[in-house]
Amino acid sequence: MDSTYRSDVGLRPWAEGDLPLLTRLLGDPAMTEHIGGPESPEKLLSRHKRYLEFPESAGRVFAIVVGDEETPAGWVGYWESEWLGQNVWETGWSVLPEFQGRGVATAATALMIGWARADAAHRFMHAFPSVHNTRSNAICRNLGFELQGEVDIEYPPGTPMHSNDWRLDLRGPGA
Ligand SMILES: CC(C)(COP(=O)(O)OP(=O)(O)OC[C@H]1O[C@@H](n2cnc3c(N)ncnc32)[C@H](O)[C@@H]1OP(=O)(O)O)[C@@H](O)C(=O)NCCC(=O)NCCS
Repeated sequence: MDSTYRSDVGLRPWAEGDLPLLTRLLGDPAMTEHIGGPESPEKLLSRHKRYLEFPESAGRVFAIVVGDEETPAGWVGYWESEWLGQNVWETGWSVLPEFQGRGVATAATALMIGWARADAAHRFMHAFPSVHNTRSNAICRNLGFELQGEVDIEYPPGTPMHSNDWRLDLRGPGA
């Protein structure tokens, strides 16, 4: 599956030096238009620490890197969540503006799906992009997620968001 996407995109574990990357991704109003608005410096720091200490049994958090120099370009990850009474993986992603529109998020998400398949802890992975987030909905469709329908969720907690519920069967075709 991965070979059909950009081959110069890679993933590496979240690292100590990634706070500036996280701040550009989640501390910026334009970047967070579809995900509840920018986070405060305090929230970003606690998120950064959480990512550094993420136990493998609870999912994985990666920095997306591009090219031989492994330039940091974004974030992708999956974490345990309960959805409709089932334990599932939930996933999300974010790519810096200067790397957008070139297939980076699609390639990185394909690699991340490979990790989740290998982890084999849960059968289903869900993504809940806003119905207005054209690019994220395209990523789900292109990578084999199946649209379950529209749902009203809260992201971040307390902020309502009208989303699509996309589900990928990690044991289905391509596994
Ligand atoms: C969503 C996001 C990660 C996409 O990153 P990206 O690297 O640009 O994505 P890709 O280049 O892999 O493109 C994904 C799809 O969006 C389409 N797309 C890219 N740029 C686009 C644009 N300017 N307008 C509309 N569609 C666009 C691509 O064509 C592709 O679909 P296709 O393969 O069917 O043509 C990035 O826009 C982002 O970080 N946004 C802010 C954070 C966010 O919303 N995260 C998602 C939360 S669910």
